[in-house]
Amino acid sequence: MSTEDFVVTPWHVEGDIDYDKLIKQFGTEKISPTILERIRKTAGEDHFMLRRGVFFSHREMDRILEDHDKGKKFFLYTGRGPSGHTHIGHLVPWVFAKWLQEKFDVNMYFQLTDDEKFFAKPDLTLEDTKKFAYENALDFIALGFNPKNTKIIINTRNIQTLYPIAAQVAKKVNFSNTKGVFGFTNETNIGMIFYTSLQSAPCFIEDKPVLIPLGVDQDPHFRITRDIAPKIGKPKPALIHNIMIPALEGPGGKMSASSENGTVYTTDAPNVVKKKINKYAFSGGQPDIEQHRKIGGNPDIDVSYQYLRIFFEPDDNKLKSIYDDYKSGKMLTGELKAILIEKINAFLKVHQEKREKAKDQINDFLFENK
Ligand code: TRP
Repeated sequence: MSTEDFVVTPWHVEGDIDYDKLIKQFGTEKISPTILERIRKTAGEDHFMLRRGVFFSHREMDRILEDHDKGKKFFLYTGRGPSGHTHIGHLVPWVFAKWLQEKFDVNMYFQLTDDEKFFAKPDLTLEDTKKFAYENALDFIALGFNPKNTKIIINTRNIQTLYPIAAQVAKKVNFSNTKGVFGFTNETNIGMIFYTSLQSAPCFIEDKPVLIPLGVDQDPHFRITRDIAPKIGKPKPALIHNIMIPALEGPGGKMSASSENGTVYTTDAPNVVKKKINKYAFSGGQPDIEQHRKIGGNPDIDVSYQYLRIFFEPDDNKLKSIYDDYKSGKMLTGELKAILIEKINAFLKVHQEKREKAKDQINDFLFENK
């Protein structure tokens, strides 16, 4: 590991992340009360993910807001590396992106990087990652996007559009840049080395500035994009970062799509969700009831509480009373888990229906090469 006791890169997240340190290390800006207030003013309301620090950092969000106030439009872009089925943590930036899209009435692009995950995962074939791209697209569509202003880019399918832009980018990035940023070695396959230029390409797909809501682990790619943007006569992409969503088994690392037990998938049945949460969700409670009543639990490290805070309980008052009751020992771990299980299952019931319908809508969302 680095000098810190955590690591955050696009392909590897490990340790207990100190987000203030990460902001310094990456050179991003913290979401300050001032910028929060500006977003609230411009959007007409704020979002619980902003208020609660789930989105905690940004690059030039202020410029996007200033431009917007002057009537200058931007567009939104985010994406997903299709290395497996979608889990509930993946939905965090997508749900937030949808809110931004509604508030600002802008176009949105969603990139599925089947090539990237093929390059990065020795065990996956290109057929596998293509299949997962389709599966992941259904979850994205199920969140209620509109195909009129929302397009899904699949890298191998849309390479004709992406390649001329990626080539502009690639010419300005040298090997030592990417080596420094990603820790590549001479053994790294050359697909990986070129890849940042493909993830950069959608930033320049429209002749407007872009705002990218994303997991903070993806920031290094766009650090490179931001450096080269002026060199190719384009505006720098602005970013707004969310924290890594903890795995069920506890803090340290993001929820991984490849560890079955530590993950709640969007396709899980209610009894599976119940079993996973009860069995695996890391608890901030005491070893027995007597002690728990006496000392109380620790919601700050409790994964069930964190899932409520990050995604499943938007109501601030309800969340606070759960926090207080758990901390005082009035609420037991089993009771806290029961609340989360019910919330997740209620969400997934609706989501899974919409996901089925998405199968008929997908063609309207796929970006067509021009
Ligand atoms: N590399 C990302 C991942 O592994 C996928 C991705 C492509 C992405 N373009 C993006 C993520 C833009 C955020 C923003 O998940």
